[in-house]
Amino acid sequence: MADERNTEVDLGASEHIECPYKTYASLHQLGGVGVDPTIGTIVAGYDTLAALAKNTQVYSSAITEDDRGPRHMGINSEPVQDDVEEVLSNAHRIVNALFTADPPEHTRHRKLISKALSPRSVRALEPQIRQITTDLIDAFIDRGSVDLIPEFAVPLPVTVIADILGVDRADIWTFKHWGDLMISGNIDLLSHERRREVAHAVVELHQYFVPRIEERRRQPTDDLLSIMVNTEVDGEPPLTTEELLPIIDQILLAGHETTTNLIGNAMLVLLGDQALITRLRENPADIPAMVEEALRWDPPIQCTYRRVMRDDSIEGVPVSTGDMVIPMWAGANWDPEVFPNPERFDIDRPNTKPHMGFGFGPHFCAGAELARIEARVAFEELLGRLRDITLDEAASDLSHLPSFASHGYRKIALKFAGAS
Ligand code: HEM
Repeated sequence: MADERNTEVDLGASEHIECPYKTYASLHQLGGVGVDPTIGTIVAGYDTLAALAKNTQVYSSAITEDDRGPRHMGINSEPVQDDVEEVLSNAHRIVNALFTADPPEHTRHRKLISKALSPRSVRALEPQIRQITTDLIDAFIDRGSVDLIPEFAVPLPVTVIADILGVDRADIWTFKHWGDLMISGNIDLLSHERRREVAHAVVELHQYFVPRIEERRRQPTDDLLSIMVNTEVDGEPPLTTEELLPIIDQILLAGHETTTNLIGNAMLVLLGDQALITRLRENPADIPAMVEEALRWDPPIQCTYRRVMRDDSIEGVPVSTGDMVIPMWAGANWDPEVFPNPERFDIDRPNTKPHMGFGFGPHFCAGAELARIEARVAFEELLGRLRDITLDEAASDLSHLPSFASHGYRKIALKFAGAS
């Protein structure tokens, strides 16, 4: 039973954003459930969260909608402002889809995109991913230094996503800009100004993709966008434009900042453990285990959200219809009942249960296989080609991005001895 007196958390506090794991350790001492009075109930206990994630009838992923459709305007409770609505009136109509849908619609969406993002389809992209990776490294290797996030960890996943969606690589920075806005539009608290920016990005994204969707309907190609547009499974009709636009938006947002921060967060762990770097160089087959432990230990997505559909209680903490509940995936990864000594980064950890860095249950990350391949290839190439990698502390800024949901460092400057 949680002790409600001591489980109050301020998710937006900078101390929490800088080191959320202290918060999770306190929550685990008190039953694994906390409350942020301005946001909602936070669930960090592994088993409690696993049960909640499966209970989609009571804990919904859908975004509030009215007769104009769902509004992707952050997790704020205040209604979307009139001037933001005016911008949004130029967007294409959309419906709650995939990440923001519940069964049975969610099950249908998942079925229809699974061919495009299946392990088989994404494994076929590995040579392309390796080529993008080596080209990026070629551009800085002779310099002996790199600003890791903008020069490597951002362009790698964004270029891969552009290729997946079958659009021009010249547009990747526009994608990055939209993706950044979309991610906060989905999981952060947004200021009025930020909502306006997100609304403009939604309109631009729709204007960009509607003609491309229509083109692939008329003339299918072999990119994954075309597969998403045209797939029919078990007699289900293909996805409509109203469904495809939010799904593309989600793939765009989920597919880049997450992987960027996975590369950055994992690199920081390695910089503090030269013995581990040596081990991974000598045994690249251990890189996937390092990536999994990085997803457990310092996951790029700390949490998402659910909306309560009927009054309930979570480990004794009452929740009411309409309340927000925060599934704290990163908190579950530090549940000492499941991951003993959770603060220890141990790639040989004999896990009996999977980490929740990619979520859990029906909404388990649809891009997990792709993210794993990108991160593995990134570290195979970085560790294989750069010698004596160290952090350039003076040129780095190891404070975190200002989000309690998306977790990554601002600036990681590296020095290395040169090509091996
Ligand atoms: C390290 C990288 C990544 C992390 C940490 C991550 C994390 C997550 C998490 C925690 C969820 C669960 C959301 C929830 O249940 O509320 C999720 C869902 C999702 N992810 Fe990822 N993700 C990553 C990479 C990707 C990539 C590369 C793609 C696409 C190409 C992607 C596409 C999606 C989609 C479409 C969903 C929604 C699935 C559904 O609702 O059924 N993700 N991701």
